[in-house]
Amino acid sequence: MIDTTAGPAIDPRGVNAGVAPVTYGHGERPPRGDYAQARSDYTCEQDWNSYSAADHDLYRRLYERQAAQLTGLACDEFIDAVGQLGAPAQIPRFDALSDKLRRATGWEVVAVPGLIPEEAFFSLLSRRRFPVTGWIRKPEEFDYVVEPDVFHDLFGHVPLLFNPMFADYMQAYGAGGLKASRLESCEYLARLYWYTVEFGLIDTPAGLRAYGAGILSSPGELRHSVTSHDPQRLGFDIERIMRTRYKIDSYQSTYFVIDSFEQLLDATAPDFKPIYQRVAGLRELAADETVPSDRVF
Ligand code: PHE
Ligand code: CO
Repeated sequence: MIDTTAGPAIDPRGVNAGVAPVTYGHGERPPRGDYAQARSDYTCEQDWNSYSAADHDLYRRLYERQAAQLTGLACDEFIDAVGQLGAPAQIPRFDALSDKLRRATGWEVVAVPGLIPEEAFFSLLSRRRFPVTGWIRKPEEFDYVVEPDVFHDLFGHVPLLFNPMFADYMQAYGAGGLKASRLESCEYLARLYWYTVEFGLIDTPAGLRAYGAGILSSPGELRHSVTSHDPQRLGFDIERIMRTRYKIDSYQSTYFVIDSFEQLLDATAPDFKPIYQRVAGLRELAADETVPSDRVF
């Protein structure tokens, strides 16, 4: 899911001089963050003072636009916790946010220069540390940014880390990722992340709601995912998800719907090794395919 080639750079004094940058796809775009400042676990300082007034203003406008459309589209757990991010008029200080998060669920947020390698990512999650990109998009990327920035990472991901059950799921995912790396099954687990943490929907008594960060931080996909007649919405099924490819450059054509966070936690608790083995023997499914066993919403 992430393309990384070189290991950490060591400078002549023998001091760790940062880590190799990580880019999406095959490096047509230069990496945006400063990987030279990162530690060997890919974390770095947030450097809050380096944000400009324009950066804070962009964050404020992004926040306002998303916050205005949460009612009826985002799940209650997200709406209940989003205020914990603090003053929406400026990019939050990660330290202050971590203090709150630690008290709530034992999680903290740590700054990273941008995308990081899979193992580094899994390792942080398994220790209840959520990596948040330090930089914010450019004003011309107000509607769409390819790589995750501080707004996506904070607004999309952090509120649900205040929810004890979801917080446990994220840690279990990290530990499962380290295991999947050893079993060379990261692609299957990446699909699970995509269709739950990034683009998951939840069925509630009031109707379908979004809990995925990629949806909740997107101006257009939030309404699209919950209300449009175009995409298909299928009942959550681990093996089905692991077989299903996904799109990284358009709205999803399939969303998977959980009944509850408890279902998510319970269904992912068993050992995935036999599941990886089964899925390896099955045909991959296209992002927009339907199969007879699908539970269609
Ligand atoms: N149960 C999974 C395994 O054995 C670990 C996991 C938990 C993966 C939760 C993802 C989410 O590999
Ligand atoms: Co994300």
